[in-house]
Amino acid sequence: MKFAVRTEDLTKSYKGTFFKRDEVFALNKLNIEVPTGSVFGFLGPNGAGKTTTIRCLMDLIRPTAGKAWVLDTPVGNLNIKQEIGFLPDSPSFGGHLTANEFLSLSAKLLKLPRHEIKARVDEVLEIVEMKEYKKAKLGGFSRGMTQRIGIAQAILNRPRLLVLDEPLVGLDPHGRKDLINIVNKQKERGSSIFFCSHILSDVEKICDFVGILKKGNLLAFGKTDELTADEGMIVTVDKEDQQIAQQLLLEATESKKDADGNWILTLNHDAWERVNNELNLEEKDTVQIERGHKSLESFFFKTVQKEV
Ligand SMILES: Nc1ncnc2c1ncn2[C@@H]1O[C@H](COP(=O)(O)OP(=O)(O)OP(=O)(O)O)[C@@H](O)[C@H]1O
Ligand SMILES: [Mg+2]
Repeated sequence: MKFAVRTEDLTKSYKGTFFKRDEVFALNKLNIEVPTGSVFGFLGPNGAGKTTTIRCLMDLIRPTAGKAWVLDTPVGNLNIKQEIGFLPDSPSFGGHLTANEFLSLSAKLLKLPRHEIKARVDEVLEIVEMKEYKKAKLGGFSRGMTQRIGIAQAILNRPRLLVLDEPLVGLDPHGRKDLINIVNKQKERGSSIFFCSHILSDVEKICDFVGILKKGNLLAFGKTDELTADEGMIVTVDKEDQQIAQQLLLEATESKKDADGNWILTLNHDAWERVNNELNLEEKDTVQIERGHKSLESFFFKTVQKEV
């Protein structure tokens, strides 16, 4: 088992209309490989092609060109569908069913063993903290409650791949935290997660890999910590070591003190090489060194500035 999701030149275009004649490329030759067991976050401005990609992966629309695989199996293979959990974009479910009826019906459609259905429905309602609404009708649910039921439905079959189209939409801060826990738990179980979102701080917290899409074109793809790695070094100098602190302050691009009064200094790559050669900082007990990181947000904005 190598890739949870893989695409090769995956393309979806829509024909122009009478008023707008150009063909629209919702997705233009997408190539991504998401290793099994990882959490992948797909980012991009509105209309970038994220939902289009997910619909292609879920076999809901047919690509114009290119290929896609889920769990190392070509999209469209019926046997694999039961191993995938899916939360669509803005889910809405028939309002006349109760949460229990809806989830039991979903479990039957997923062909879960009959004797397991009741326990499984209770299990997922517990996970999304909707147990008390088990007998309530979906029609009366708020947006966030509907989203929680959608998530419950997506994890009913303990999927090996979980595909979520904007799972954080409509959730309150507590719900967002719960969702992050759910994603982490699914990952611990060995499941892979593919989702898209606009909430960069949450994506940064939970994703091993991220991809950034703009107007159907992939602008960046890679491990989150590698994409956000910075050239610089963050050097923490003990407040007692004034001598080193004063020397580094002359070279630092940024400097601040932590709550204990220790210096936190940012050095760019050249300055770091120079002072480390001179002062042998790696050997000093009063100095701690770590690689600098920029936020995913700053990387995102820099990336989507590019013209495509
Ligand atoms: N059925 C369709 N006919 C014509 N164009 C379409 C159709 N579906 C999607 N598109 C176009 O494809 C592009 C990508 O849309 P998509 O829904 O994949 O974006 P998205 O990244 O999910 O955006 P959002 O963040 O707003 O959800 C958009 O320009 C959209 O107008
Ligand atoms: Mg979308």
